Amino acid sequence: MTETNKAETKPEALVISGLDCFYGEVQVLYGLDLVLNKGEVLCLFGRNGAGKTTTLKAIMGLVPVRAGSIRLDGQELTGLPAHEVPKAGVAYVPQGRRLFAEMTVAENIEIGLMARGKGKATRENVLNLFPLLRQRLRQRSGTLSGGEQQMLAMARALCLEPRVLLLDEPTEGLMPSMIARIRETVAKLRGMGVSTILVEQRVDAVLSVADRVCFIENGRNRETVDVEQLRADPSAVRRYVGVG
Ligand SMILES: Nc1ncnc2c1ncn2[C@@H]1O[C@H](COP(=O)(O)OP(=O)(O)OP(=O)(O)O)[C@@H](O)[C@H]1O
Ligand SMILES: [Mg+2]
Repeated sequence: MTETNKAETKPEALVISGLDCFYGEVQVLYGLDLVLNKGEVLCLFGRNGAGKTTTLKAIMGLVPVRAGSIRLDGQELTGLPAHEVPKAGVAYVPQGRRLFAEMTVAENIEIGLMARGKGKATRENVLNLFPLLRQRLRQRSGTLSGGEQQMLAMARALCLEPRVLLLDEPTEGLMPSMIARIRETVAKLRGMGVSTILVEQRVDAVLSVADRVCFIENGRNRETVDVEQLRADPSAVRRYVGVG
């Protein structure tokens, strides 16, 4: 590699190569390759059932990996039990936001802090990102609006102070003003050095916040393009997702 090439190479936060995943005997991911650079927002696009959620679950150790590797800053994650992955620095907000509905906002945040032994300073940082939650600390989380629940799910995940954040369709079912807030938060986190994989179905929800977009089709990674490139020529979106 020449010196010039070296200077152009961005540092990688997470590198997935040759990933094969199965549910029982049914193969869902086929040799998937994915690179998340440090401090970027990488968007995963693809039709329903393409394998986006499975990719995130594989990173978290929640589905078995039959072949391939997942490295975080060089550390192999595939051999780790699922509870070790957050400790290694990866936070996950699942599709459909799994909160403890009977618990208050404050208690949900407390659980996030306990997961990695974080304290008051982390709690303050997280609440500063979501001032709306600060006003609702005593409210039962099951009674929050959809957008507020999404914020709480993100807040709880961020209590880990992760290096890598995985967000599975965070804007699903939310109204535009909430979508804008989630987007602003993702952008703010990027400014703080967090690297994010963002799964989305709607292109307009992410073009302003993503750096690159990777298309997933039938469990395989297809093109990965810079977001400017996609703005100039959105034909790839039609090709892989079926809508422009
Ligand atoms: N627990 C499971 N058991 C068996 N098959 C599963 C399981 N979870 C997912 N699948 C299958 O794996 C494939 C990929 O699913 P996945 O949830 O990763 O898709 P996705 O891209 O996230 O879709 P969506 O956009 O609908 O969320 C689908 O065919 C799905 O039916
Ligand atoms: Mg999914």
